[in-house]
Amino acid sequence: MSKKICIVGTGYVGMASAIGLAELGWSVVGYDIMTERIAGLRAGITPYRESGIDEPLRRHLASGALSFVTDLAAAVHDARIVILTVGTPSSSDGSADLSALRAATDALLRVPLAPSAVVVVRSTVPPGTTDALAGVLAGHARVIYAPEFLREGTALRDFLHPDRIVVGTESVGAATAYAALFEALEAPVLLTSRCNAELIKGVSNAFLALKISFANEIANLCEELGADAGDVLRGVGYDRRIGGAFLAPGIGFGGPCFEKDVKSLRCVAEGAGTGYELLGAVLRVNNAQPARVVETLARELGGLDGATIAVWGLAFKAGTDDVRDSLALRILGDLVERGARPVAYDPAVRTAVLPKGCRLAANALEAATGADALLVLTEWPSFREVEPVALARRLRRGLVVDGRNLLDPERFVAVGLRYRGVGRSVDPVQSSLAVAG
Ligand SMILES: NC(=O)c1ccc[n+]([C@@H]2O[C@H](COP(=O)([O-])OP(=O)(O)OC[C@H]3O[C@@H](n4cnc5c(N)ncnc54)[C@H](O)[C@@H]3O)[C@@H](O)[C@H]2O)c1
Repeated sequence: MSKKICIVGTGYVGMASAIGLAELGWSVVGYDIMTERIAGLRAGITPYRESGIDEPLRRHLASGALSFVTDLAAAVHDARIVILTVGTPSSSDGSADLSALRAATDALLRVPLAPSAVVVVRSTVPPGTTDALAGVLAGHARVIYAPEFLREGTALRDFLHPDRIVVGTESVGAATAYAALFEALEAPVLLTSRCNAELIKGVSNAFLALKISFANEIANLCEELGADAGDVLRGVGYDRRIGGAFLAPGIGFGGPCFEKDVKSLRCVAEGAGTGYELLGAVLRVNNAQPARVVETLARELGGLDGATIAVWGLAFKAGTDDVRDSLALRILGDLVERGARPVAYDPAVRTAVLPKGCRLAANALEAATGADALLVLTEWPSFREVEPVALARRLRRGLVVDGRNLLDPERFVAVGLRYRGVGRSVDPVQSSLAVAG
């Protein structure tokens, strides 16, 4: 039986999936309509920065286990499994824009697929989407839905160590063929309907987003009460029924997934007439959160007009250069609108389109030189290595606003800097007790 797998859409998920499947011993062909992306991948150049991915990409290209083409017929020829990983961004009304998925499906109708080919939708889609696509592809291929849960920054590791493999199917034969790809992994496999599998993905992201918005609400409350959200949420998260993951306050969730997936699920729930209240609240809290760090800066500086603000971090999270829907860019825009002059630095982002009036610095200390205050917007570990005393020498008005609660407040306060986190107590006694505990 052919060991060939075809990946349609070699963006973030497609690239990691292609390399991951090659690591698992399959012969993988990636196809994309972006010819320059395919040319780059053929040359061993990934479209995004992602840790641990360059070496296996080049190794599998060299061995021939992995190839990239711009001809769909060649890509699917003899492939027993065709995996769709095209983008499903938000439409203006918040619903998922499925046009790329429809275009990819239509294109598959025009090329000869292998007999008994299985088409696997891995893009994130609203419930009912894969059933509809199965109708379109009836007579050409069996269609299953298998959500992807990987995170940017740890994409290949997540792909190869999934918590679960969810397969939404109406055909046990098709599901078995797909699940066989991951036989080498020790992950539980959940076989369910396509609609259930689509909901599992959307609801998982909505729940993670809910935890972030919840943590932010509690942090904002803690600030008012003079309490420390770090201690409060740590104490809550130790409860195994709750868990500490994603209970971290900050500027809110950005990036290409959470907001669009919650919006998409809310649209579905509104259409169904139930289940949308909490989803709406998650989005409202998240939408308001970035403004809080800007307010903190304005309050502490006595206004932002004419202030130079060093901004550390542009990527929506550490470990990636992805700035899609990054809240940092939104915050930069707000700063400019209020008359500030941001000077930004990100260790991975060198070419982002910044709002007019922002400058890009070559390193963290250069960004801070002569700035009135520092604002931390991405949780890059390298920012922790900057010596507070070096920062104190460069910041004109000695203010650090840490939108990610990344830095150790005591070290900054000790050199005379004013430190403000999100829901974080600035009482050094409380912090040192927390560390001791
Ligand atoms: N990025 C993540 O962390 C992540 C994690 C899990 C799931 N997802 C979901 O996976 C899907 C893909 O996300 P992504 O971040 O990889 O998107 P992306 O924008 O990085 O990649 C999508 C790719 O599909 C290609 N494409 C578009 N139309 C095509 C067509 N008709 N034929 C072939 N290729 C086509 C694009 O050129 C692009 O390279 C989305 O539904 C997303 O919600 C993303």
